[in-house]
Amino acid sequence: MSAVLTKRKSSTKQAAKKKAKTTRSKKGAAKKTAARSKQTAKSKLYASLVVQLMSLLKGEYDLVANAANFSALLFNSLPNVNWAGFYFLHGEELVLGPFQGNPACVRIQMGTGVCGVAAQQVETIIVPNVHEFPGHIACDVASNSEIVVPLFDGERLLGVLDLDSQLIGRFDDQDAEGLNELVTVFVGHEEGIE
Ligand code: SME
Repeated sequence: MSAVLTKRKSSTKQAAKKKAKTTRSKKGAAKKTAARSKQTAKSKLYASLVVQLMSLLKGEYDLVANAANFSALLFNSLPNVNWAGFYFLHGEELVLGPFQGNPACVRIQMGTGVCGVAAQQVETIIVPNVHEFPGHIACDVASNSEIVVPLFDGERLLGVLDLDSQLIGRFDDQDAEGLNELVTVFVGHEEGIE
């Protein structure tokens, strides 16, 4: 009897273990599916932004007007973004351009802050937590993460596109890819403009 009981207990345990394993793997699969659909949603959003940006730029070659519309498009389309805008290279420093969000610092030296480092290295920089970035320039206390994409036409650095978020870890490689695509469209359109 006790053997049977033990056996029952052990088979119940095994069944519970199996169930837990199945639940875990189901949860894992669900997480993967959610991550994949989130990725798809993000790439769809960026693809739609490329189309919208192209239509905003069509026939218009004023840099300030185009940068203003570009920043408004990003600010109003991307979730959890509290600042989106440009710094343009003037001589040796970056100067605030069109943006959406709170008033920001006007001049940033090359190599300073996230913008200055991205400009100096001509590299996209994703900062998951701005409070851990040495020399980060805090323009808006609400910002917790940031991405900066250089505006580079292959020869010349024109400036940077800067996006801030109130969320930690808001920006990922997909954002970097999508924003770089948008910046390529923007810079390509503005090419030749002094
Ligand atoms: N945080 C930036 C400064 C610009 S604001 O975020 C608008 C930086 O560290 O360069």
